[in-house]
Amino acid sequence: MAFFGLFSTDIAIDLGTANTLIYVKNKGVILNEPSVVAYHVKDGKKQVLAVGEDAKLMLGRTPGSIEAIRPMREGVIADFDSAEEMIKHFMKKAFRRSSITKPKVIVCVPHGATPVEKRAIRQSVLSAGARKCGLIAEPIAAAIGAGMPITEPTGSMVVDIGGGTTEVAVLSLGDIVYARSVRVGGDRMDDAIINYLRRHHNLLIGESTAEKVKTTIGTARMPDDGRGATMMVRGRDLLNGVPKEVELTQAMVAEALAEPIQQICEAVMIALEATPPDLAADIVDRGVMLSGGGAMLGEMDLALREQTGLMVSLADQPMNCVAMGTGRALEYEKQLRHVVDFES
Ligand SMILES: Nc1ncnc2c1ncn2[C@@H]1O[C@H](COP(=O)(O)OP(=O)(O)OP(=O)(O)O)[C@@H](O)[C@H]1O
Ligand SMILES: [Mg+2]
Repeated sequence: MAFFGLFSTDIAIDLGTANTLIYVKNKGVILNEPSVVAYHVKDGKKQVLAVGEDAKLMLGRTPGSIEAIRPMREGVIADFDSAEEMIKHFMKKAFRRSSITKPKVIVCVPHGATPVEKRAIRQSVLSAGARKCGLIAEPIAAAIGAGMPITEPTGSMVVDIGGGTTEVAVLSLGDIVYARSVRVGGDRMDDAIINYLRRHHNLLIGESTAEKVKTTIGTARMPDDGRGATMMVRGRDLLNGVPKEVELTQAMVAEALAEPIQQICEAVMIALEATPPDLAADIVDRGVMLSGGGAMLGEMDLALREQTGLMVSLADQPMNCVAMGTGRALEYEKQLRHVVDFES
């Protein structure tokens, strides 16, 4: 095992809007960090200051001389240089005791990515030091990672709620029958909380605080007692500019999140309507699988079940599904050959 790195350097990368994960063949997920790069800016020159966890702590708290960037937006590269910098950094970190050969890499891309966006992702991975780069559609990776029987002649539906997008897909015989990507995910939920507090409480909060609210007391359904758990939130009073604290209830958060949740549920309904009847019948039998960090929102599964009438299950490790599925594609390269694109 000590020389493992010498023999197997193949890795899978889930290059997400919110988090980047690296899976090493036969080892599993060994890195999971926020997709953030912080630069020190001096005389117009940029120098990398921190990447990942450390850089995320700086978001929203930077002085003029430091710039914290999220290179990915809505699942695709928004800033090429910082994306490459980030991939390079994570790959180096994953292979601390540098391996001899350059790795073969498989990366997932959103189903709706354009050829130009796909090329940009492949290019960054190659420039970051990969020998070869294959692409896999994110919904396929999510379904494999969640343990769905995607190669069978039966319909499987997976809903991956990420930071930037929600991807709904129906799969059968190892390929996508129907997929729909909506630009609603964890980021939009954070925005919805920020807007709610601004409108109803004249309170301005930052993105990190909004995310904290969402992951602590966030819920997709109105609490039964009309109030639920509470949390104190601090921000700036928009009327007089001084710091202020407000007590937020789960009911308030549910109200704030109603619109993005509704949009996610609608995307699932539209996908069901577009699914051929026999596959739709399979989905009624087997239910829907939820993956992605956004799927961990309180009662998200229940909300979707109430809206669609379908059985809904939450994947085992929702945030790791796509990385694990992409990793599977490395391990079962022969069987899953047709889902990975090494060309173009
Ligand atoms: N417990 C939780 N409740 C609600 N949301 C959560 C929870 N934990 C994480 N999230 C959210 O999940 C999102 C990140 O999920 P994930 O890592 O699957 O996204 P991603 O793969 O980076 O994004 P994308 O697939 O859109 O490119 C973030 O918006 C984060 O705030
Ligand atoms: Mg994702």
